[in-house]
This record gives sequence, C-alpha cells and structure tokens, in this order.
Amino acid sequence: MPVRVRRKLAFAVVVVLTVLATAGIAAAANGGFTPEFAHSPNAHRINTAYWIVLVFTSVIFVIVEGALVVFIWKYRRRGRPRTAEGSQVHGNTRLEVIWTVIPVVILAVIGIVVFYELPGISNAPAAANPIRITVEGHQFYWQFDYPNGSRSINDLHVPVDQVVLLTVKSYDVVHSWWIPQLGGKIQAIPGRTNHTWFKADRAGTYYGQCAEFCGLYHEAMRARVIASTDADYRTYVSSTAASELGRAEFQGACATCHGMQGQGGYGPNLAHDPLLIQPSGLANIVRNGGVKMPPVGDSWTKAQMTALLQYAKSQIYKGASTSGG
Ligand code: CUA
Repeated sequence: MPVRVRRKLAFAVVVVLTVLATAGIAAAANGGFTPEFAHSPNAHRINTAYWIVLVFTSVIFVIVEGALVVFIWKYRRRGRPRTAEGSQVHGNTRLEVIWTVIPVVILAVIGIVVFYELPGISNAPAAANPIRITVEGHQFYWQFDYPNGSRSINDLHVPVDQVVLLTVKSYDVVHSWWIPQLGGKIQAIPGRTNHTWFKADRAGTYYGQCAEFCGLYHEAMRARVIASTDADYRTYVSSTAASELGRAEFQGACATCHGMQGQGGYGPNLAHDPLLIQPSGLANIVRNGGVKMPPVGDSWTKAQMTALLQYAKSQIYKGASTSGG
C-alpha cells in the first residue's frame, strides 16, 4: 500500500473512531448538555433562545474547526526548513466584506429572537385569578406560603394550567430558586423581593435545586413542585398542608443534619434526646440555634412548633437513654 493511501486510511480511521466515541453522548440527548424539556410557557421561550444560539454556534464551530484541521493537514511542513516563509497575502476586499457582514447578520438574528422572547419570559400572562405564593429561601430549605395562610417546606403544591406568581425572598443568605422545567432561575436575596412565575402544562412533579452556593448544605436544598388538579390543590392547602407540616419541617430542615430518623449525621443523634419532646426547649433551640446549630426555625409560627413537636414525639423520639445519645 502506498504511503499516501495508508496515511489517508489512518486519518479516516481516526475520524470514524472519534465520531463513534462521541455519538453516545449525542444520542443520550439530554446528557446535561441541553435544557430540560419545558413544561411552562416561560421555559419554552428560554429553550427557543437556547436552540437558536446553539444552531449558529454549532455551524460556526464545525466550519472553524473543520478549516483548522484541513489547514493543519494541507499546509503541514513537508520537510521544509522551519525558517521558510509562507507566501504573503495582502487585502481581499470581497472576502473581508463577507466575513464582516455574515457575523453582523448572525448577531442581529440572535438579538431579534432573544428580544422577542424576553417579555414572555419575564412577564406572566394576564390571568383572572393567579395563585400568589411566597417562596422564602432558608439555610437549607425552601418555605412556601399559600394565599390562605398555610405553609409547606420543600414541596410546593400548585394547580395545573394556572398562572402561579412567585414572590421570592431570602431569610438569611443569597439562594437561587430554579425548577428548570418551569422557567429560569431567580435569586432569593435578603432584603430584596424578586418575582417570577410559571404555569405548569401537565400534572406531575418537577424537580429543582438551589442554584446559588449558600453554605455547607447547599446541595441538600432541593425543591419539588407538585402540580395537580385544582381540586387536589384546594384539598392540599385547606387541610393536607397543616397535617403534613411537622413531617415536612423535620425532613426539610432538621433531617439535613440529624438524619431522616433523627439518627444523627453532621448533627447529633436526636432519637433519645429529651429536648425533642419539651415544647419550650424544642422551640428555643429551633428558633435560636445551638452551639453549632443555625437558628433554622426563627421565623416559624407557634403552629409550626406544635406540628414539629407532634411529629418529633410520634415519629422520632425513642425514649430517654442512659448511655447518652
Ligand atoms: Cu440555598 Cu444553595
């Protein structure tokens, strides 16, 4: 086999192997490289802007990198001395106009699409009775306040196909509210009130995670949006929220450090700690914190303390132990 042919064959093999190696990633579709499927009008618009930018950047990437590879191959040294000068080329008006005009047109198209989509991303559509919910970031849980005064932790319940207006606040440090399938991020900043919205287009559970590094347990600060029928939502806010509050508080706030069963973790074991069943002692430590414990519940209501106490008594406390715990 002549050397030229053998080299071309080797080059082709490298190209094919590279394509095969990356095909898996491409085929995995949403392997973390593309946005999640949108289930809210604002998320749809964000994705549209993403795909437009991706199409242009992909084509440019292929052209530029392709040309780079071709030139490296075509103009390789071929035994010439290192000091040999290439031919000097000066001025090509037509080429220069083309490579100026094309990027300008591309940027204009991207700009037009983004500015067209922006109002529909930031502004909620007009709705007769939007659901207004306050989202408050805490180290390290999300707290939701519903229009009727009920409260939930980490799980936000909403009716499907209705506009939900969120007022986003923070109790302590900067957090970031983000449910990717329901729209973009919005920061929860102490002393400032931000607004965002979504309208879930199908019943189901949507997952999110605090998107701003906010401290030791930032990664534990997850959130779920549970979209259900209007009737289910009403049942939830009128009765279920209250009956589940104690569990939600323990699992959302206490369990982060003390474990789901109070078995201990970063924080001490609680299962045999008598403080857990003393109303004033429990309220005091939850509101004010301890030596290493942050004041996780210093904004909690009396009803929340009662709910936590009941849950701790019935589900976590396993009786005083003489061996300590
Ligand atoms: Cu809250 Cu990260």
